[in-house]
Amino acid sequence: MDIQLTNNVDNADILVDFLTKDTIKTKENAEILELAGFLGEQDSICFLHEKKYLACGVDEASEDLIRSASSVAIKTLKASKYTSASFVVNQENIKAVVEGIILGGYEYTRYKSKPKESTLENINLVCDDVKSLQNPFEEAVIVAEATCYTRDIVNTIPEDLHPESFAKIAIELAQENSLECNILAEDRLKDEKMEAMLAVGRASRHESQLIHLTYKPKTKAKKIISLVGKGLTYDSGGLSLKPSTSMVTMKMDKAGACAVLGMIKAISELKLDVEVHAFIGAVENMIGGDAYKPDDVLVTRSGKTVEVRNTDAEGRLVLCDVLDYAQDKVKADYIFDFATLTGACMVALGQYTTGVMGHSNKLKHGIFDAANNSGELVGSLPFNRHLKMLLKSDIGDISNVSSKPYGGAITAGLFLDNFIKEENKDKWLHFDIAGSAYTESPWDCNVYGATGAGVRLISSFIKTIE
Ligand code: BES
Ligand code: ZN
Ligand code: ZN
Repeated sequence: MDIQLTNNVDNADILVDFLTKDTIKTKENAEILELAGFLGEQDSICFLHEKKYLACGVDEASEDLIRSASSVAIKTLKASKYTSASFVVNQENIKAVVEGIILGGYEYTRYKSKPKESTLENINLVCDDVKSLQNPFEEAVIVAEATCYTRDIVNTIPEDLHPESFAKIAIELAQENSLECNILAEDRLKDEKMEAMLAVGRASRHESQLIHLTYKPKTKAKKIISLVGKGLTYDSGGLSLKPSTSMVTMKMDKAGACAVLGMIKAISELKLDVEVHAFIGAVENMIGGDAYKPDDVLVTRSGKTVEVRNTDAEGRLVLCDVLDYAQDKVKADYIFDFATLTGACMVALGQYTTGVMGHSNKLKHGIFDAANNSGELVGSLPFNRHLKMLLKSDIGDISNVSSKPYGGAITAGLFLDNFIKEENKDKWLHFDIAGSAYTESPWDCNVYGATGAGVRLISSFIKTIE
């Protein structure tokens, strides 16, 4: 499917129009639309085939609602026999329309022996002034395609996407986008004393990998950003085995790492004036005679010891070592980690919202603004000293799980906080994408499977960095 900006409204099979209940009346097709029962409700559609017209309802012409309606439109068009369609765009809606089309039209067909074929080949985005929309158009395409790139990797099954193949994907991205790339396999992880990360991956037939990609801009960087991703290519729970129904979808436990790859891809293609480091802990959490156990005490890279009380709380064990490594290797202005860390985050915020945790309110507000601009949903989960105390361990320095069942997303964030150095406390934010990274039913511009959560949010945040 090819998308292009044009000022020619007449060269497509069908015109897509966004209508609110009030604007229907102003249209020349108002009477037929009324006859068809079209009321302009959000995400409703009405085809007027003979008029070459597709009406899409929006409650109001906001970016969020246009993005959602564009997703409905593109899915409908892909299921039709049309070969081309036009959408009327302007400065206000161009980003939302592009995202709706690319993200809402996304399908993952790698494992289908006969993928459905669509006749839809050309999408024309029609506007009066092509020149003034060219930049926002190209930027929106880059970010949406990076989001689809993230989705593709998350959706790949664990047999094909394991720590070693993950490293290969990172090497390919580095080659394509001129990034520096450094991969640490298990021998180097041992040299680095990353015993927590190594313990999690020990029962896997795949070697754990730490992946470090760097993007350096041509001109002097305004800021340095470290992005850290949880890359559990499969989370069986380990010896604290997940119940079978909870294990299905756990290929998505690498979504934080995949998001971080999508972010560095987008930022390097947007050629932003920032230096970005992506650190990924790629590990598979399995069972076997060699598996790490509840009761083990692990010595992390930082020297702090962790009592393992639940091997399913493995993400934090990988991240504590990768965060420690990242802080030693790069003196960053911002340190953001992304992880499908806790089921509790979904309980707290619902499955559509990313949980944000950290000490700096200023930084969190920057992220809330980026969320509003990007259309991703984020919510703040507050730390407090009482929850922090629940991680106490009698045998080690800290336990990998809380002693109480409530506030699990926050106690996971507080566990990571133990590995953030004093000078970095206000530079760090933790993003729990357990709910927002994957969906089994479509919502907004998300279709079945991975959503690519984080990519639009952080691309938007970094664009505004001064
Ligand atoms: N990967 C899971 C978290 C998760 C759950 C992500 C559901 C997406 C959907 C994580 O490793 C995990 O298992 N966390 C445990 C923590 C608990 C043992 C303290 C959880 O959430 O139950
Ligand atoms: Zn787990
Ligand atoms: Zn996990």
